[in-house]
Amino acid sequence: MNIEEAKKEIDSLVKQINQHNHNYYVESNPSISDYDFDQKLERLIQLEKQFPLLADENSPSKRVGGDITKNFTVVKHRFPMLSLSNTYSKSEIEDWLVRLQKLTDDPIEFVCELKYDGVAISLWYENQKLSKAITRGDGTKGEDITNNVRTIKTIPLTLNQSAPDSFEIRGEIFLPLKQFEALNKQRKEAEEPLFANPRNTASGTLKMQDSSVVAKRGLDSFLYSVYMYRNTITNHYQQILNAEEWGFKVPPIKERYIEKSTSVEEIMNFINHWDTHRYDLPFEIDGIVLKVNNVHQQNEIGATAKSPRWAIAYKFKAERVETILQSVSYQVGRTGAITPVANLEPVSLGGTTVKRASLHNADQIEKNDLHLGDSVYLEKGGEIIPKIVGVNQDQRKSSFSKVLFLENCPECSSSLIRKEGEAQHFCLNESNCPPQVKGKMEHFIGRKAMNIDGVGEETIELLYEKKLIKDIADLYSLKYDELIVLDRMADKSVKNVLKGIQDSLAVPFEKVLFGLGIRYVGETIAKKITQEFETMEAIMQADIERLIGVDEIGERIAHSLFEYCREEKNIQLIHRLQEIGLQFKTNKKQLDSEALKGKTIVVSGVFEQYSRNEIKSLIENNGGKVSSSISKKTDLLVAGNNMGPSKRKKANDLEISILNESDFIDLISKK
Ligand code: IVH
Repeated sequence: MNIEEAKKEIDSLVKQINQHNHNYYVESNPSISDYDFDQKLERLIQLEKQFPLLADENSPSKRVGGDITKNFTVVKHRFPMLSLSNTYSKSEIEDWLVRLQKLTDDPIEFVCELKYDGVAISLWYENQKLSKAITRGDGTKGEDITNNVRTIKTIPLTLNQSAPDSFEIRGEIFLPLKQFEALNKQRKEAEEPLFANPRNTASGTLKMQDSSVVAKRGLDSFLYSVYMYRNTITNHYQQILNAEEWGFKVPPIKERYIEKSTSVEEIMNFINHWDTHRYDLPFEIDGIVLKVNNVHQQNEIGATAKSPRWAIAYKFKAERVETILQSVSYQVGRTGAITPVANLEPVSLGGTTVKRASLHNADQIEKNDLHLGDSVYLEKGGEIIPKIVGVNQDQRKSSFSKVLFLENCPECSSSLIRKEGEAQHFCLNESNCPPQVKGKMEHFIGRKAMNIDGVGEETIELLYEKKLIKDIADLYSLKYDELIVLDRMADKSVKNVLKGIQDSLAVPFEKVLFGLGIRYVGETIAKKITQEFETMEAIMQADIERLIGVDEIGERIAHSLFEYCREEKNIQLIHRLQEIGLQFKTNKKQLDSEALKGKTIVVSGVFEQYSRNEIKSLIENNGGKVSSSISKKTDLLVAGNNMGPSKRKKANDLEISILNESDFIDLISKK
């Protein structure tokens, strides 16, 4: 294929993929199967690799991320990025309406919008292409986060031809609730600290260095104001309709996310509607925004240094209810962490009935000086789980007793320990405290770990109660005769349980390591570790420095893993599991040949038949090792087109053989 042909195909693919992305993410109306879409995207990625000069920075292949930003550059805003003045009551809104009407002679039309609880963004487009994405910063200067914003599927990288040549559009980037909850679920499983609310998560995500992580988080956007030097569109509402034409995701009119109004009644109707329906939205809002529609009137009314006078925010009060704290109970997790839970007199909050609220740890109880019987204030605020935010002191009676944190484990009576620097109390009786023992076994059989068919939480409960198992290794010595006599166990279910356990012997090492339930070793970390070390022995021998040296492993994880491997009872458990036959080695791939055995090879340049990654896989599949830089240790350099002259010189200086693509293919196919 020559470069002209490639350009034609790339242009056509980019157009099609952009359109399909728009149909899927903005219109929610896909017109192609996921499979066909992936095929097109893969073909585009392949062509861009083969012809790197044709790869545009706004190609839809950029959506998957991969660009790293070490330092975000500071950029001056072309128009100051103002904020809104806030009001908290309807009477303040009425006052504002009266004030405005005094400033202009003609009747005013308003646009009512939702106040999205996310992060403000300014997008610059030049010649229908995204050129910059900048945060609000201090309103005068913001940070260039373009690489990260390019991964957000609802932000168009290329606009329709109807869009102006040069303009700016502003709006909000936010994390939908579904994505927020899924992310926290993953973090909980990996025992990583949870994110407090979607807004902070969105803002933290946008400042990450690795855009491929941003791409996976599922951020979304709504755009709401257009800025141009000679703006010919004379009203705000029309600007939004135009922006939609150009390819942006704008607030849908049908759903009443945006509405024109001319009277106080209509405005109040909009506020009231969203005050009650805001919990039905798939994202969080913290109020509504009112704007003067006519741009001439906006200019007439003007702005202060901080905010326009022609717009105002009405902030919802965080819904707060009062209820009685009846008791505090304590939950023991799989790792022994103790979580206090407030049991409340049931009360309705944000559309659901609340009976319990997490108190997180002893500090939270102390902070509110909680007494049993107290009248407590509950809020839903930004967080999903309701929170006790205070105590109504007027209702406190002298007979109420102060909530004192437990000193002994509610399940096994061992003394609770609070280590220095940790917020939580722990029960250290790992091997005999029932919820910890059962929790570890439940984790082990789980879908993401050993995925043992036929065994669920109830089965574990039953087997533990009957004293048939007390750790994960015991599962493997269960016998038919022991099981068939148990309640709810018929011939078929017993066989199912035994088969599930037997089949789990084939589960790969990474899942076994995750299944051990080592604190902080989540699914992804377990995978990383098994790729790096390949055997359990190697992991057990590694010192802290070696562990920290592994990509994505920090001190916290390294210490936890290191300590786990030093404890006698864990060492014994692992030996028992090894004897039973569980996988404690990474499965080495079958090699195609050993043609490159013992050779360290560097790959550079662009190839014709294969992509660079394919060449690297070919090296590994034929027994060679890929290295990224040329050194004395390099045996071979596989050179494609456009390889830098300095690399070639270095290879020549070190007398390293250089092979082109076809020589390389010959070399591996001969053997
Ligand atoms: S208009 C000059 N409209 O609220 C007016 N802002 O304090 C600029 N926000 O930084 C903002 N939803 O991040 C506008 N429909 C909406 C909004 C909205 C959320 C945010 C925005 C801004 C902050 C104002």
